Amino acid sequence: MLNCAVIGLGGLGKLHLNNLLSLKDEVNLIALCDVEPNKLTEVAATNQGVQETKVDLSHIPFYTDAEEMLNKEKPDLVIVALPTYLHAKYAIMAMEAGAHVFSEKPMARTSEEAIKMIETSERLGKKLMIGQCLRFNNACKTLKQFYDSGELGKFVRADFHRYSLVPVWGWDHWYEDFEKSGCAALDLHVHDVDLINWVFGLPEYVSSAAGHRRTPFESISTRYHYKDGTMVTASCDWSFGDSFGFRRGFFAIFENATLEMTEAGEIKVHPLDGETYNVPIVVVNQYLEEMKELISAIKEDRPVKVLVPESTKETLDLALAEIKSAQTGEPVYL
Ligand SMILES: NC(=O)c1ccc[n+]([C@@H]2O[C@H](COP(=O)([O-])OP(=O)(O)OC[C@H]3O[C@@H](n4cnc5c(N)ncnc54)[C@H](O)[C@@H]3O)[C@@H](O)[C@H]2O)c1
Repeated sequence: MLNCAVIGLGGLGKLHLNNLLSLKDEVNLIALCDVEPNKLTEVAATNQGVQETKVDLSHIPFYTDAEEMLNKEKPDLVIVALPTYLHAKYAIMAMEAGAHVFSEKPMARTSEEAIKMIETSERLGKKLMIGQCLRFNNACKTLKQFYDSGELGKFVRADFHRYSLVPVWGWDHWYEDFEKSGCAALDLHVHDVDLINWVFGLPEYVSSAAGHRRTPFESISTRYHYKDGTMVTASCDWSFGDSFGFRRGFFAIFENATLEMTEAGEIKVHPLDGETYNVPIVVVNQYLEEMKELISAIKEDRPVKVLVPESTKETLDLALAEIKSAQTGEPVYL
């Protein structure tokens, strides 16, 4: 059994907490931490619905100071579900205290912080996994499978989008503060950036434009330039109203067919010759799957698969390059 603790009990902290409770044969929940003592019992918002903890966890030691918790409880695994600008500080603190770490996306607010996280993980031999959850989403995996197999012919171009409302529910309004979250350009957009990096690899350079209306960087639109002439574009915007909800999807055009992820999360193949068909998708809890992979890696004492820290740092660097390009109006080379 791995002794596990969670730092940050907002929307994602509660989501991970519920998943950990479902892994009771693998994980022993030994401590919880949030700067706000009432967070455990509060219902928390996310852009995909509310999160709450339905079981009574009042018997689990609760701390408002993460350092005190880490020193007293000495967990084997720590989940860092904090605002982005705090990821590096607490992930490093947890590894220094002897724990393996799962930390939410994006990896950090700056590239320098991400380098320190990787350096600490390597120096102390502690596993570090960043929650770029789409790599465990079966619909998104289909894009990688079709791209890698060449089954639909040569890849030509792809277009991604991800739209939402401004996440005004975040603790202390951290989501709306560009220095803390990177706003839509880093926070929401990083899901597509990670998918693009994972499937197509890093581009040669990016050119981006951004919008700043209700928050700085509330929208971003990027063209990813690849040396082989293939083209990828992506747009993200969180300036929609409350009733809009959340939408995302992509088109990937191959020589012989177009692959589509619909708003409903279906994957459709539109062949140039022939009828459109759906690719059967087994819907899984991507957050649970990423956690199970980290737990297996710890138990089997092997490197984590799929979400290796260096790759999630590349994703962060790609998103930061897009922000720089939008700020300067110049292309940014990776
Ligand atoms: N993977 C996904 O699909 C996904 C979705 C939403 C959010 N996220 C990420 O998850 C992370 C958390 O987002 P959220 O929506 O849960 O935020 P949130 O604002 O709902 O929750 C953050 C929590 O951290 C607590 N906190 C702040 N400072 C603390 C400290 N020093 N010590 C202990 N607790 C502290 C706050 O009280 C709050 O409860 C972010 O990095 C976000 O980008 C990921």
